[in-house]
Amino acid sequence: MTPEADDRVVCVIGAGYVGLVTAAGLAERGREVRVVEVDPERRAAVAAGRSPIHEPGLDGLLGVVVGSGRLRAVETMSEGVAGAGVVIVAVGTPPTPEGAADLSQVLQAVDEAVHHAAPGAVVAIKSTVPPGTTRALTRDSRRDDITFVMFPEFLREGSALEDLRNPSRVVVGGEDGAAVQRVVALLGGPDTPRLLCDSVSAELIKYGSNAFLATKISFINEMAQLCELTGADIEKVADGMGLDPRIGRSFLSAGLGWGGSCFPKDVRALETSAGYHGQSFWLLKAAIEVNSQQRRRFTAKLLHGLGGSLEGRRVAILGLAFKPLTDDMRQAPALEVVRQLEDLGAVVVATDPVALDRARPLLPRTTLVADPYEAVTGADAVGLVTEWPAYRELDWGRVIGLMGGRLVVDGRNCLDGRAITGGGGIYVSMGRRTRGLPPQAPGATAEGISFGAVPPLPLG
Ligand code: UGA
Repeated sequence: MTPEADDRVVCVIGAGYVGLVTAAGLAERGREVRVVEVDPERRAAVAAGRSPIHEPGLDGLLGVVVGSGRLRAVETMSEGVAGAGVVIVAVGTPPTPEGAADLSQVLQAVDEAVHHAAPGAVVAIKSTVPPGTTRALTRDSRRDDITFVMFPEFLREGSALEDLRNPSRVVVGGEDGAAVQRVVALLGGPDTPRLLCDSVSAELIKYGSNAFLATKISFINEMAQLCELTGADIEKVADGMGLDPRIGRSFLSAGLGWGGSCFPKDVRALETSAGYHGQSFWLLKAAIEVNSQQRRRFTAKLLHGLGGSLEGRRVAILGLAFKPLTDDMRQAPALEVVRQLEDLGAVVVATDPVALDRARPLLPRTTLVADPYEAVTGADAVGLVTEWPAYRELDWGRVIGLMGGRLVVDGRNCLDGRAITGGGGIYVSMGRRTRGLPPQAPGATAEGISFGAVPPLPLG
């Protein structure tokens, strides 16, 4: 006999970044949590209380909640959803070739979950889905004793547990008020802002948040370009703008632009969704273009600094993960930059504190080493791609001494330029003019590379 839905029991479908962190956090808050995961290796890691991903604090928390029996990794949907009051769908929505969100994993998970769910269960969609998806799931559902809500997530990789424990807000959207209340009770404390709305608005809150932040970064990156052309300093400009509380300093760090599993996919999906409704979302098209130019700008700085040719030159890349504190290589700017450098003839040696194993199959031509001092030895130039704190702390005098050349290009404006120039290096950053190298006017080219309009790199 099917057990009644019990809200003390939560089933999370998918042990990816979002699902696993959510599951561990809910177990910590006292729920009995089951995670349905099809990948046997991932499931085995969770069952052993180990995190299959690098996320600060997650390993320790999984050890505790798996050890106490509050979190269990299961293989089958029937085992996972049996008796669960809330079923959270946290599977991937990767991009289709057209840039839309591929919903096949969501549809399959929902189909199976609905088949086995207890009467009265709520299915909460945590996967990022286009506007109208949750309503369509409700409309097409085979069971009218199951309700659907949209439960967007705002966790950042690298601080996901902290975000889960102290969420900036809890948003739940749905057409059934009682179901919305049951899901909103899962997270947050008495002071957490809560926003309850219809499911389409919740879907767009998720996309709108990511797309706005990505656009904010692209805006500051365009400003950085103008700073280089006019002799201003983007860090001062961002500090000054950020002091206005209406603007704020966060997400105004100029550099190589946004990567990761969310911003690139979600910005494109929102732009594509708008297109389906007959709208051209011009701002997002521009944000995407600026983001791709940032990678080329960085490569062009290395090319220019090495005198216009990278053929046979040795370039050391510091940092591969799409941002610090994670080993996630999805849409990492390093992938584009390394490929551009290699296509221009450079010999690339790269390092990262935690992402080497994930990077290896993605960068078959690149030499990967664990020790940053080994990476820079004999290098004509060093390019910093990911702002791991350890790279700022390097002995830069020693680094310059080990290098064959003197050029250091800081793609995240995180290094101490004085330590580098003091050690005899040439320090190049983003959005600030470089001492020791002539400024480049828009349209000025080094082997066809303009620092202004950034045309395509002269690749074969
Ligand atoms: C992002 C959002 O911040 C989360 O709220 C959201 O839940 C998540 O996507 C998601 O949809 O799952 P995340 O991808 O972990 O989180 O990373 P962010 O910290 O937002 O950084 C995204 C990218 O922007 C990184 O490549 C980062 O290097 C870049 N960035 C960030 C900048 O280039 N400049 C900045 O000032 C800030």
